[in-house]
Amino acid sequence: MIRTPQTSLEWESYYDLRYRILRKPWQQPRGSERNNGDDKAEHFAFFIQNDLVGVGRLDFTSMNSSQIRFMAVDDKHQGKGIGKKLMMHMEELAQRKGCSETVLHAREIALPFYQKLGYHTIEKSHLLFDEIQHYLMSKKHEYSR
Ligand SMILES: CC(C)(COP(=O)(O)OP(=O)(O)OC[C@H]1O[C@@H](n2cnc3c(N)ncnc32)[C@H](O)[C@@H]1OP(=O)(O)O)[C@@H](O)C(=O)NCCC(=O)NCCS
Repeated sequence: MIRTPQTSLEWESYYDLRYRILRKPWQQPRGSERNNGDDKAEHFAFFIQNDLVGVGRLDFTSMNSSQIRFMAVDDKHQGKGIGKKLMMHMEELAQRKGCSETVLHAREIALPFYQKLGYHTIEKSHLLFDEIQHYLMSKKHEYSR
């Protein structure tokens, strides 16, 4: 089931998953998994019963465009379609709210995941922690309003 975390315990698990998957392997400090945009973004988590096993954040960057950030699925649950379901859920919302495009900065290792979902690479973007190359990717949505 996909929904926004509700209780303080769920929010803790949400940021903890982000930290474990996207920051800890590069020895980054606790807290580095959050940024200012978290306050105004839409947050989604994939739950298996009470366990939070996947996360993703959707930003509305203008009237008609959106950006997906901080996608992470727990190690033990990767490759089971959870990331894909989270992406589709966020894209559907973006589309419903009138977005004609969703962009994201993909880690090199995740490029095939986003390509399968219909994203194409625009350009090389930033290098995170001096080693993780990112690529700006985009997907256009059908007009839906
Ligand atoms: C990248 C990530 C979010 C994908 O989520 P997931 O639940 O593991 O992926 P899914 O099982 O939904 O995969 C959907 C499809 O993409 C493919 N895929 C997923 N990750 C892939 C990868 N790294 N390389 C190649 N293919 C990949 C799957 O095989 C699947 O293909 P199919 O539809 O033909 O069966 C997840 O593996 C993850 O958190 N990785 C570590 C953190 C990370 O890199 N996050 C992205 C930051 S930009």
